[in-house]
Amino acid sequence: MAKALGIDIGGTGIKGALVDTDTGELLSDRIKLPTPSGGLPEDIITTVVELIDKLGGADKSVPVGVCFPAIIKNGRTMSAANVSKKWIGLEAEKLFEKALGRDIHFVNDADAAGYAETRYGAAKGVDGLVILTTLGTGIGSALIYNGVLIPNAELGHIEINGRDAESRAAYSAKERSRLSWKRWAARLQLYYSRLEALFTPDLFIVGGGVSKSYEEFLPLLSLNTPIVPAVHRNNAGILGAAALAAPATPPTV
Ligand code: BGC
Repeated sequence: MAKALGIDIGGTGIKGALVDTDTGELLSDRIKLPTPSGGLPEDIITTVVELIDKLGGADKSVPVGVCFPAIIKNGRTMSAANVSKKWIGLEAEKLFEKALGRDIHFVNDADAAGYAETRYGAAKGVDGLVILTTLGTGIGSALIYNGVLIPNAELGHIEINGRDAESRAAYSAKERSRLSWKRWAARLQLYYSRLEALFTPDLFIVGGGVSKSYEEFLPLLSLNTPIVPAVHRNNAGILGAAALAAPATPPTV
């Protein structure tokens, strides 16, 4: 059995678990620590070290995957939408590796979720273009074409009516403005219609914690593209980060 630790860093919480990367099942409880306020690099790195400790991460032969809410290019964090601006341009992967004393696989959070859904969830075996969006503090996105992830799509930041889409349509916008499901769905309608016009995808997958309430808002949308909830909801980041870190088990013959 191949296993790896998956860590998902978000604007409000940092979650982790040990994952069976052959099946996508959790092998431990999911542990969640609050994201230190301000989201500063040194504080988040310290929390990740603590989390891995709590997950019994002493065995350094177990690979670690970490996903983060920013553009990740060659191990550097190139943006910071819902964490401290100090992350921008930082050699973050190296800093985590130094603090943890081991190598990690470092990836954007929505890309990790997209990879998890491709391997173990709603995008498994789907041909053509799948767009996964996570509706949380921000809007994360992953593009998957014929099962291959195209990293760092930042479709939460497309501009609609002169505004950053995630500032209007993320789940945090619903909470901030106390929008009813119906009023929030009207914003989602605008958002997904724009994505549909730009990409003509074959499938939309909606992830993030709120996707557990998908029955409240997905039926209110009218799109030409099928739209389904993520299978792994809020665990997809953990699963994808772990799966990307683990070497694939060779198929048995
Ligand atoms: C960031 C993305 C991230 C998403 C979800 C956005 O604000 O720009 O990189 O994937 O939030 O956390």
